Amino acid sequence: MYFGADYYPEHWPRERWDVDAKLMKEAGFNLIRVAEFAWAKLEPSEGHWDFSWLDEALDVFYKQGIQVVMGTPTATPPKWLMDKHPEIYKRDENDLVLGFGSRRHYCYNSEIYREYSEKIVEKMAQHYANHPAVAAWQIDNEFTCGDGLYCYCESCRQKFIVWLKKKYGSLDALNKAWGTVFWSQTYTDWDQIIVPKRSQAGMFGNNGHNPALNLDYSRFQSDAIVDYCAIQSRILKRWTKVPITHNVVSELCDYYKLGEQIDIATYDNYPASPWKSFLGGSPSDPAFSIDVERGIKNKNVWIMEEQSGPCGWNVLGSTPRPGQIKKWSYQAMAHGAEAIVYFRWRACLFGTEEYWYGILDHDGIPRRRYEEIKAIGKDFPKLCAYNVNSKVCADMLMIRSFEQQWTHTFQEHNWNFNYRKYLQALYNGFWANNYNMDVSNEEVDFSGYKVVIAPAFNLMDERLKEKFEKYVAEGGNLVVTFRSGTKEMDNSMTERTLPGYFKEVAGIELEEFDSINDCTVPVEGAFGKGAASIWADIIKPVTAKPVATYAGEYYAGKPAITVNEFGKGRCYYVGCDLDAEGTAQLMDYIAKECGVKPALENVPDGVEVVRKESGDGKEFWFVMNFSGKEQTVEFPCEVKAIETDEVLGRSVKLPVYGSAAVAKV
Ligand code: GLA
Ligand code: ZN
Repeated sequence: MYFGADYYPEHWPRERWDVDAKLMKEAGFNLIRVAEFAWAKLEPSEGHWDFSWLDEALDVFYKQGIQVVMGTPTATPPKWLMDKHPEIYKRDENDLVLGFGSRRHYCYNSEIYREYSEKIVEKMAQHYANHPAVAAWQIDNEFTCGDGLYCYCESCRQKFIVWLKKKYGSLDALNKAWGTVFWSQTYTDWDQIIVPKRSQAGMFGNNGHNPALNLDYSRFQSDAIVDYCAIQSRILKRWTKVPITHNVVSELCDYYKLGEQIDIATYDNYPASPWKSFLGGSPSDPAFSIDVERGIKNKNVWIMEEQSGPCGWNVLGSTPRPGQIKKWSYQAMAHGAEAIVYFRWRACLFGTEEYWYGILDHDGIPRRRYEEIKAIGKDFPKLCAYNVNSKVCADMLMIRSFEQQWTHTFQEHNWNFNYRKYLQALYNGFWANNYNMDVSNEEVDFSGYKVVIAPAFNLMDERLKEKFEKYVAEGGNLVVTFRSGTKEMDNSMTERTLPGYFKEVAGIELEEFDSINDCTVPVEGAFGKGAASIWADIIKPVTAKPVATYAGEYYAGKPAITVNEFGKGRCYYVGCDLDAEGTAQLMDYIAKECGVKPALENVPDGVEVVRKESGDGKEFWFVMNFSGKEQTVEFPCEVKAIETDEVLGRSVKLPVYGSAAVAKV
């Protein structure tokens, strides 16, 4: 049960640490994260270690009852190391060396870097493993974040060859799986293998490479990140029993595999960063993202960086409104956060992030944001009594797969299709109606869920076909969408009639499809209506029944969405995208048809409700007002405010940016 901030003692004079520790204590803090970028301070030159400053900082804070998450500083290899071994630098797809001056400038596959990383992690572990202030360790910081690039250096190529040998055994098998007969790409010697750098055909929006090579390269690079994490994790495990974490944000890496190397997944939550347009910007984004994080290990998570001020590098997002920091923190807790650590304690006076405001401004004087966080801190222990070990009451599972994402990344199908955004749009359709859900990968046990949603689930094989079919045959409700089942696992096209491996369970065949460009196609049916603007599958029902049809284009009157009874369950096939309104109607329709109830009925628009069950079986709710006006939320029973035990009756009033945590009386 942790509440605190990200703190950089190395950025402030020694005298200030006491002031900060005292202010933190007054705000109810019991945790800071430290050291994750401090390599050059800990090892100023090769083999010369200096832990004295960090020892002293730990003492100062521990005296005030504040523990630390100890970060391993491998996201920022120092200049002396990079000058000595420039081959560590990452190389982008144009063979450009991404040099010194920012962070994350290393290749995960560099053996030299792995050795240096081992050395510093071992030293830190040796020094701090038994320190009572250390509550957890964080490995590195946000793998691949900020670059979004794979590395294409020679170390990567060499290791890729080893990876491929292990996977395929022989070059014949590789040539066959990759279809290298196309364009004379046949490899006759392992050393001929390439990495997919920018190619002659790289002008067509993707890199012009063989899709099978691209997908294997993504898998390989993801494995490299996981291996790199595992190296650190193994060392730490030898020294300590406290939890090991990583703030997982990189979609270039398979979260679920990375999750196996850590004890607790943590997330960095910035609902109003200037990058929100890139992230989507809807209040459902953090909800979705934290649900995704919860699905990494199918257990509750920590927020390792929670927004606490206006933030940005060169441009700033808006200043959190009164109440907003609490609302974001409550939303995070609602979706599974058991610890909230704010980024950052105080705005830094220098460096790339000097515009990134935290709880305190540059002058270090506590103001409104500090007071608001202090008020959350006062209530935090009471909230935790309910929230720690609680679970979201979810009858639905959305599958979020990284391999599926990568196949769509290289071949988007349509300029406006983006796998992550599509999942977010479907999620948003449920969220708008207050249906809570779990998000995880296809390997989880489906049997406990009334509905499983498999969006754009394109790579398929017999094993998964059986798993999906068994789930439906035994009474489950499967929702499959367009661009599912068209590919084999190696990223080649299936020979089966579409939707390929889903044909039987969906009870349909696709006659044709339309990748929609420059128009919209109306869709109408039992769910309501909407318009497709990205994709339209033209469906021929075999055993399925239409749920909706197109009302435009040459395929007007043809089914767009179908439902098929299969064994004791059913499968919905959603052959088109829909606008936000239409998506919300369709998701509501499907949930209702499948007997799923929202977290609460009759919730005003723009209010989010998450229904939870505490570790000891008590029902409780988080409610967050995103509507921009005051709202009243009605409950079917008497409720009390968890923070104060005050009985509120059957309704809860929420101010404009209000939030509440209430339990059944
Ligand atoms: C990320 C990083 C932090 C910091 C913030 C703000 O989440 O983990 O170190 O850079 O972004 O940019
Ligand atoms: Zn590399």
